[in-house]
This record gives sequence, structure tokens and C-alpha cells, in this order.
Amino acid sequence: MVKRKPVIIDCDPGHDDAIALLLAFASDKLDVKAVTTVAGNQTIDKTFNNALKVLSFAGINTVVSKGAAKPLVRDLITAPEVHGESGLDGPILPPPTLKPSDKTAVETIIGILKESDEKITFIPTGPLTNVATVLLSEPEVKNKIERIVLMGGSMIGGNWTPAAEFNIVVDPEAASIVFNSGIPITMCGLDVTHKAQIYKEEIEKIRNIGNKVGVMVAELLDFYSKFYERFGFKGSPLHDPVAVAYVIDSTLVKSKMCHVDIETKGEFTDGCTVVDYYNITQKSKNVEVVLDIDRERFINMLYEALKKYN
Ligand code: RIB
Ligand code: CA
Repeated sequence: MVKRKPVIIDCDPGHDDAIALLLAFASDKLDVKAVTTVAGNQTIDKTFNNALKVLSFAGINTVVSKGAAKPLVRDLITAPEVHGESGLDGPILPPPTLKPSDKTAVETIIGILKESDEKITFIPTGPLTNVATVLLSEPEVKNKIERIVLMGGSMIGGNWTPAAEFNIVVDPEAASIVFNSGIPITMCGLDVTHKAQIYKEEIEKIRNIGNKVGVMVAELLDFYSKFYERFGFKGSPLHDPVAVAYVIDSTLVKSKMCHVDIETKGEFTDGCTVVDYYNITQKSKNVEVVLDIDRERFINMLYEALKKYN
């Protein structure tokens, strides 16, 4: 019996966050200790409620906590053009049955880290506000974090500005704190997630799995793919599930250790993850930058996971 890896997922559901949650909870390799939510794709009330709705719909019972309503110092940016006004447009989901935690996201994370007798792997799939706040308020819990495997950033090009990816540019100050924390970091940025696209015929396979979760995921992707079609993508990038898939089976990807800095002052480059691929600065290689993925194996991992639901 392989021991499950204890993880905390911090997310801003969000279509791809929702699919990442379903992938994580279906895995016999992970022990998800809690789901914490952050403002990003939509406001915190919406991302929190969306997490509760998706987990309830899938029959998942876990701790769900509400986190930061805005970045550390900046105003919130949301992405209704990608995820809709609800943050999870597409399927009609019933009201949540899962009881939310009475603790905040930061209280939940710090509590789990302090109580755990083993290190926890952190999987942030939204802006890094909650993670940075944990590190600022309880620095000693750093040594209880095994690794931070985040979806965010990019070595080449952004998706919110020409230079910056959404999760990082929403809260660059938080990202800078996390990337400079000394904690082992794996960055699943656009370089790999734009290769982790799901195509129409694969969405139909999911729709026809034969359970309600498969239908719901297909309806999420029906809505989500509209945004990417407008930008000429053949498929829809499953950004956040890549971070979860890495923790389940890192042989899916190819990566390189690089020094990464976060731009927090650039007129045109604010929120850019500056990846020193050729080690020009000779600075410490603080980040495992994921650059490629076996797309077919990844999609199959998701398909097999979704088959486990009712
Ligand atoms: O840039 C993609 C990321 O921003 C994903 O995490 C998506 O959910 C949004 O949060
Ligand atoms: Ca997200």
C-alpha cells in the first residue's frame, strides 16, 4: 500500500481549479487535508461558494476555508471573461451541502502545518495571497512545507499581460514572498499548461463516462473552451490540473532548475516570472520550472480519475 502524500490545495475556482480538485480527490496517491480558497478568477465569496458546490456535487467531504478577498497590497483583478460572472459558468450546480469551515484559510493552513507530524505539499492554483500571508504570519511553519507545486507564471509570455500570467500578476508581492521563501518550489507555468490542452473529442469521452461528474466536467469545459477558441487555441489548456498531476506522478513532465525572480515594479512587465533559463545571473536555482508534459498520459490520468465518481 503506497502511503498517500498529504497535500493542501489553495484555489480560486474557476473551471480548471474545479477539475484540479476532482483529479486530486480521486487519486489514491494524495491525502487532501484541506481546500482553501482565494480571490482571483472571481471574488472570494464566489470562489469559496464554487469550491463548496463542486465538492458537494462530487460527494467529497473535506475542510473548505475562505481566504483572502484581495491581494496583499493591490486591488483585486478578476477574470469573468474566462470563467463567467459566477466564476464557474456552464453547469447548473445545486446549492452546496458541504459545511464550510469556521476557520479562515490562513488559520486552517497554519493549524494543519503545526499539527502534522509529516511535511505537507502545497498546491496553489490561484493567486498566492494566502500562501504569502501564512509565511508572513507564522514563518516557522516553513519547515513543515515539503514543496510548493503551483500553477502560475511562465518563462515566455503571459496570458493576462504580454509579460505576465494571471495568478502571478494578480498578486506579484505575494508571489515574490513565496518564490524567495527558500521553500522548494515547482512552477507549472504557461510553458507547460499551454501544452496540456484537452480537445473536443476528449471532452466528449468525458461527457460519456456514464456519471454525473463526467457530464458536469464536460459542461464546465464547454463554457471554458469558448474563451480559448476566441484566441485560436485548438484545445483548452487545463492549467491547474497540471499542478495536481505533477504531485500524483512527476514522470509526466520535463523540468529544469532555474533562478526565478518576480517583477513587482515593471511598467510593462509587472507580475512577470523572470526565469533565468541559461543561468546568466549565476543566482541560486530556486525553482523547478516545468516545461513539457506527456499530454496523452495527462488526459488519460484525468479520464481515469473522473470515472471513479458517481
Ligand atoms: O493563468 C491561468 C490561471 O489563472 C489558472 O489558475 C486559472 O484558474 C486562473 O486562476
Ligand atoms: Ca486557478
